[in-house]
Amino acid sequence: MISKRARQLSPSETLRISAKAKELARRGESIISLSAGEPDFKTPDHICRAAIRAIDEGFHGYTMNAGTPELREAISEKLKRDNGLEVSPERIVVSNGAKQSIGFTLLATVDPGDEVLIPSPYWVSYPEMVKLADGKPVPVKTSLENHYKLTPELLDEKLTSKTRALILCSPSNPTGTRYSNEELKQLAEVLRNYPDLLILSDEIYEYIVFDGEHAGILQAAPDLADRTVLVNGFSKGFAMTGWRLGYAAGPEEVISALAKIQSQETSAPSSISQKAGEAAYRGPLDPVHAMREQFKKRRDFIVDAIKEIPGLNCFTPSGAFYLFPDCSRYLDSTSPSGKSIRTSTDLCLYLLDEYGVAAVPGDAFGEPNGFRISYAASMEQLEEAARRLKEGFSRLSKSH
Ligand SMILES: Cc1ncc(COP(=O)(O)O)c(C=O)c1O
Repeated sequence: MISKRARQLSPSETLRISAKAKELARRGESIISLSAGEPDFKTPDHICRAAIRAIDEGFHGYTMNAGTPELREAISEKLKRDNGLEVSPERIVVSNGAKQSIGFTLLATVDPGDEVLIPSPYWVSYPEMVKLADGKPVPVKTSLENHYKLTPELLDEKLTSKTRALILCSPSNPTGTRYSNEELKQLAEVLRNYPDLLILSDEIYEYIVFDGEHAGILQAAPDLADRTVLVNGFSKGFAMTGWRLGYAAGPEEVISALAKIQSQETSAPSSISQKAGEAAYRGPLDPVHAMREQFKKRRDFIVDAIKEIPGLNCFTPSGAFYLFPDCSRYLDSTSPSGKSIRTSTDLCLYLLDEYGVAAVPGDAFGEPNGFRISYAASMEQLEEAARRLKEGFSRLSKSH
């Protein structure tokens, strides 16, 4: 009864760990969750008030399928203001989160068997969304030494006549790494040799950048605009995960195919959320900057704490709210109770079961030697988590 398409999808490892963490917490255990992919802040007040006003004023109906003209105008102006990009509102479709924008872009552009390059470690949903579009996800393994960034050489090696698209994510989930303008320029040089290739640039963590300025492929290589879809959204920068609001901006042909799919699958996102999104982009960015400052303090704390644990290896990420330490030295060890730790999943289950710290195994992100820590948690929680992690790792002994 279940389709091949549904059967080939992998269940989410992230959800497995967080379901277990929730179950342990429900039973009264002291659990610190560092597995969340969402800011632990409240959506700024002026944005909430715009949504309340929308309800009070009866803005309840369906909106235009691609999003309200006002929100698309606000996005167009934001792209000019923050990114120096000229994108007319007709080349923008607003969706139920960046996730939907990415999924529909892939459905609109990938044919059965087409390959989609995904630098790994990657956000868990990319390969699964490629599979849903009947495409073939092709992970491109990157290295810790190069801060998990795709290089022109790695890119060139993996490009074939079957490659349909490349997904870039900067700042990155799960590593917090970020490309500079110069690095993107170098990638663009390779991309110019493949004129039929689509570039999907996921910039959802744009506002959570600590050192330097956010750079996107379109700033580095404006000539790629006719085949680049820029995806962004409100979830991370404005702490609006539950509002479900994101968008795709790109070439007219792709955007209208995406809009056609959206018109048959979901229609536009909630009218109330769209009013909130408009307020987010037209209003002050001070709350966004204040959240970023909090994330920066937490990052500095957790990076120092992790670096103090012998054998864990990480760099200081310059964006998003994740840290992705390499834990390979611990992947052949035994816990005090005799549990064998062979994979990052074993390790994360040990940390959760014995120390009540929930992190996400790197297996889920295509990099079995690491694990993801989200520092979207309070300083108190991070301090306690750091103490527990230190102890947890110190109790592991090498197998044999
Ligand atoms: C890299 C990346 N892209 C997209 C999304 C989806 O965001 P949204 O809430 O807008 O669907 C996430 C959420 O975790 C993400 O980490």
